[in-house]
Amino acid sequence: MSDTQQPLVLVSNRGPVTFDTDGTITRGTGGLVTALTGLASHRRATWIANAMGRGDADRARAAKGRAFSVDSPAGGSYDVRLVISDDLAYERFYSVVANPMLWFIQHYLWDLSNAPDVRAEEVEAYEYGYKIVNQDLADAVVEEIDGDDSPVVMIHDYHLYLLPQMIRERRPDAFLHHFVHIPWSQSDSWRVLPGKIRDELYRGILANDIVGFHTRSYRRNFLQCCEDLLELEVDHKQGVVRIDDREVWVRAYPLPIDAAATRAVSRRARVREHEDELLRRRREHLILRVDRADLSKNVLRGFSAFDLFLEQHPEFRERVTFMAQLMPSRTDVPEYREYLERIEALVAVVNHRHGTPDWMPIQLKLRDDLEEAVAAYRHYDVHIVNAMFDGMNLVAKEGPIVNERNGVSILSENTGAHEELGEFALTVNPFDVQALANAIHRALTMSDEERAHRADGLREIVLRRDPGDWIDEQLVDVRRKTSGAKADDDR
Ligand code: G6P
Repeated sequence: MSDTQQPLVLVSNRGPVTFDTDGTITRGTGGLVTALTGLASHRRATWIANAMGRGDADRARAAKGRAFSVDSPAGGSYDVRLVISDDLAYERFYSVVANPMLWFIQHYLWDLSNAPDVRAEEVEAYEYGYKIVNQDLADAVVEEIDGDDSPVVMIHDYHLYLLPQMIRERRPDAFLHHFVHIPWSQSDSWRVLPGKIRDELYRGILANDIVGFHTRSYRRNFLQCCEDLLELEVDHKQGVVRIDDREVWVRAYPLPIDAAATRAVSRRARVREHEDELLRRRREHLILRVDRADLSKNVLRGFSAFDLFLEQHPEFRERVTFMAQLMPSRTDVPEYREYLERIEALVAVVNHRHGTPDWMPIQLKLRDDLEEAVAAYRHYDVHIVNAMFDGMNLVAKEGPIVNERNGVSILSENTGAHEELGEFALTVNPFDVQALANAIHRALTMSDEERAHRADGLREIVLRRDPGDWIDEQLVDVRRKTSGAKADDDR
């Protein structure tokens, strides 16, 4: 960890933990929480996030809206400040603007001949939802850094594009750093947004000193968007956008996983119980996927490819199970609810088509159970990550360091993780169903030597950096920019 001990404030929509109304604490889900948990528990940092439900709101009120210390069930303790917004404003912010509008733009999920329709409802959701929630969090940040000299505020993700400017207006001296955990899509995809909204969002995020992404390709897209959509002066080589006499550095910091923490989970007693159960029932081969049930994860094409594989390779019938652990997500958004229904329907069709009285080809588990997922990580032969587009995909990194069978990773070329792991994975185009079916066959028939070579390669890359390095790389840039250094072009 870096020795910088400036006061740090982290801001994100979802905090590290959520409180039930009976006080029970659950760890927040998603890659962002995984990434920041280490940071917040190892450094003096206050994590400001939205109160997610009644339990969070009760806890925030008990703390009189101020920061309080909390021990996470996943280990570590943090200072957290939960911010309560108006319910309707939050609903509009989360379920209309952030997900789906922005999420869909940044993952190319809109089916443009059908959706989205931008009407008064969407514009109002932006004005009276997205803006309000950003403002509520900005107020909390400004209060939290009051009295601090040169505070560093690290802002996270697509929920908070307006927040940097709101802070900048009141604290021009603050160092603002924004990390975007999802892809930055190419400029035309942003044209579905009315010009005024688009301009405000871009000007909001460009109020940062540094904007970070997982990959060089998202960095490239962001720079190009600033040129195409805002006609700003951009230095593509150095990764600098010039706006209002300021320089914004645009950088790539691929997020590593905390291997020690993942391996610690794999040693828990509950993981052993799940493993025993799994080993009792396992067939010769196990294919695994673990995802949030998100449209971007491409779950349906994954099952279609398995269907095709079983049809084309009947010799594998009854010898292989495809286990899919999917965590229901954002079920207040209609597109997500409908997606879950389509997943269940397709699983029923494939199981009906190929299954036998004592063999169910696809085992679908719709639940959020980290220990069950980690138990399956240990024993898969093939790990499928076929996301259409994905900022990083930490699951692609977690599987290989826990797996004990030199399992083969099939990895979509449109995930951030592919920039690092591609060489040792079987690369697939996520839209090419036949290619995925072929990759499944290739993985299941691969020689032991090749499996070992690939698995070693994956492990070596994943273990090379840890989240402490990720934070340090960012803090080095914070220091360099503060001291007036020029942006270099190595990131
Ligand atoms: C992705 C996003 C995070 C988000 C997570 C879970 O990892 O980058 O910002 O928190 O998904 O999504 P949710 O809507 O449940 O917070």
